[in-house]
Amino acid sequence: MPNAYISGTGFYVPPRVVTNDDLREQYGIDTTHEWIVERTGIEERRFADEGVGTAELAQYASEQAIEAAGIAKDDIGMIILASLSPDYCFPGSGVMLGQRLGLCDGDGAKFVPALDVRNQCSGFLYSLGTATSMVKSGQYKHVLVVGSETHSAALDLSTRGRTVSALFGDGAGACIVSATDEDRGVRSWYLGSDGRYAETLCQKVWDIKQRPFIPGDADGVGQVQPEMMWAKMEGRKVFKNAVIRMTESLMRVFSEQGIVRDDVDLFLFHQANLRINQYLADQIGIPPEKLVNNIMRYGNTTAATIPILMAEAERSGKLKPGMKVAMAAFGSGFTWGSAIIDW
Ligand SMILES: CC(C)(COP(=O)(O)OP(=O)(O)OC[C@H]1O[C@@H](n2cnc3c(N)ncnc32)[C@H](O)[C@@H]1OP(=O)(O)O)[C@@H](O)C(=O)NCCC(=O)NCCS
Repeated sequence: MPNAYISGTGFYVPPRVVTNDDLREQYGIDTTHEWIVERTGIEERRFADEGVGTAELAQYASEQAIEAAGIAKDDIGMIILASLSPDYCFPGSGVMLGQRLGLCDGDGAKFVPALDVRNQCSGFLYSLGTATSMVKSGQYKHVLVVGSETHSAALDLSTRGRTVSALFGDGAGACIVSATDEDRGVRSWYLGSDGRYAETLCQKVWDIKQRPFIPGDADGVGQVQPEMMWAKMEGRKVFKNAVIRMTESLMRVFSEQGIVRDDVDLFLFHQANLRINQYLADQIGIPPEKLVNNIMRYGNTTAATIPILMAEAERSGKLKPGMKVAMAAFGSGFTWGSAIIDW
């Protein structure tokens, strides 16, 4: 059975920077830079321009990852795209990414399978686990895994929505999970979920139990009320559960691998809140030089946080071959996961 390793990484964030002061001055949100930084660590985020969507952001990150892996686009056996902000209700953005990458063009087109993963902030780790299994089983040699989000289109950018809208930003991160006979790669991964908290952090938009699923006016024009349209979140419950579940899932993969904290060279945590990650670091005893964060610059990009962090860490030289890397994420669902990778 081959090992599955990450052969290339890439990331893309849109060029438009939106600072905390911009939220107040441009969008009229009653907030302050100090409030947001003190509670979350976020100083700025990126917003994509109108006309740009999730498959497009994913394309730019994927092209980098493909180049970094030293493979051709046609070498990709499967696409896995994680997003809570897909371009449309259906089909998923994975098929659009395949088309954008040119995988449906020409006589030799392979029309590779494209899977969308709907696991919010844990989406990347769910996708990585799936890709690893696909590669280890021998089914595919190279799987493209992407986390991509266009949050800015679906945030309530008003004072009413400030608790949620201050947190999120747009971006995409990608990697290629490849087969190798070398003694390296994804050693272990663990995933979990608890649907009792499905409504603690959610954006419903519609309710399929209703007939029709979105109420309409006399002309048949859908009417979505603000409480359905925008994300709602019980922030403190999310915070508390994030700390518990991320710690637990890290301990799971540690014990499965027979390793301890000091064996890990670099921790890549989901970027939901700097305070969550600092709390985790204190609990577990992680020295600052082994933990990288970028939430200050990008906010929470949900499924894209870990692959963006990974690509940045590689480019800055903080993530090097031979390192043992631990990842953990938690998000809406609730869902969570962790992974250990020998880079
Ligand atoms: C969201 C979060 C920062 C809020 O911090 P908090 O200390 O729990 O704050 P609260 O929600 O209790 O709100 C406290 C007050 O600040 C206000 N407030 C909320 N957002 C604000 C903002 N952006 N600017 C200014 N004030 C804000 C609230 O309206 C509330 O005012 P009130 O006391 O007059 O009612 C925090 O709960 C958190 O980070 N939770 C985890 C969220 C997360 O990780 N989500 C993604 C999961 S993947």
